Amino acid sequence: KKPFIYITRKLPDDIVSDLRDEFYVEMWESEDVPVPREILLEKVKEANGLLTMLSDQINSEVFQHAPSLKIVANLAVGYDNIDIKSANKFKVAVCNTPDVLTDTTADLTFGLLLATARRLTEASEFVKSGEWTSWSPMLLAGTDVHHKTIGIFGMGKIGEAVAKRAKGFEMEIIYHNRSRKQNVEKDVGARYVEFEELLTHSDFLVCLAPLSPETKETFKKEQFAKMKKSSFFINAARGPIVNENDLYVALKNGLIKGAGLDVFDQEPINRDHQLLTLKNVVALPHIGSATVETRTKMMSVCVENVKRVLSDQKPITIVNEEWLTN
Ligand code: GLV
Ligand code: GLV
Repeated sequence: KKPFIYITRKLPDDIVSDLRDEFYVEMWESEDVPVPREILLEKVKEANGLLTMLSDQINSEVFQHAPSLKIVANLAVGYDNIDIKSANKFKVAVCNTPDVLTDTTADLTFGLLLATARRLTEASEFVKSGEWTSWSPMLLAGTDVHHKTIGIFGMGKIGEAVAKRAKGFEMEIIYHNRSRKQNVEKDVGARYVEFEELLTHSDFLVCLAPLSPETKETFKKEQFAKMKKSSFFINAARGPIVNENDLYVALKNGLIKGAGLDVFDQEPINRDHQLLTLKNVVALPHIGSATVETRTKMMSVCVENVKRVLSDQKPITIVNEEWLTN
């Protein structure tokens, strides 16, 4: 009997057909609606491998229902949607997709920064809605990016790739991270600062840290109050790192100038959410790694990891090394 792989969202045929030779594969047949909880819990009873999306909560309940499960391959670099302690307890390998998405996500992050500073989405709306009646001196005048200070919160691989882009714009680069990154300091001239200085000095504060109990609600009222009134907050990491109500109040009251958000507390964000009523917010639907090239590579990494773990080989990427030794 072939091992059973369950995929929680419809993926392209050529990706899936690569698995069908060795495995019995079932897939939730929708591209844009997540698998209902009860179906997921039913499927994992028999599954040897799961290919999941960041919108699936893979918690202890899932692992408890999954006696034969060996691997969860998450189509994302972030894995805050997966309970790693439970995975370890049940000896399940958890694999993510780092590296292949680094430059793509950095491109989007820097693009979002530019779009927010230069009011690109507002400007595009303006033209498309026929409001453009004449050139005028201060029409949609934004804020310069070059030569400003970028403050990167979370200097992982994506942070480093964003710093490289910032260097091209001759920005001053400061960062805060759990550990110092001497290589980034040397390569792009980034300077390590305490969190306090990151808040008070940044013209563009860019959040790229993973979501964890330590980073949850790092940015609240008190932090926004310390930022420059002329500054911008960019989040391409995870929504819950920010208190959205406090961000709304800060934007509304001019404590900071604008925000570029690719991620939200609740995704999809409700269209009536107060943040979406603000002109100085650029909102994107969590598309950091969304290019055809990179999503294809991420799927291939997941497929390769499933194949390897189910044939007792080391996966190319592993989140919980402990799963082997436990
Ligand atoms: C996207 O947010 C990811 O974690 O890959
Ligand atoms: C994680 O999100 C990173 O910065 O690599």
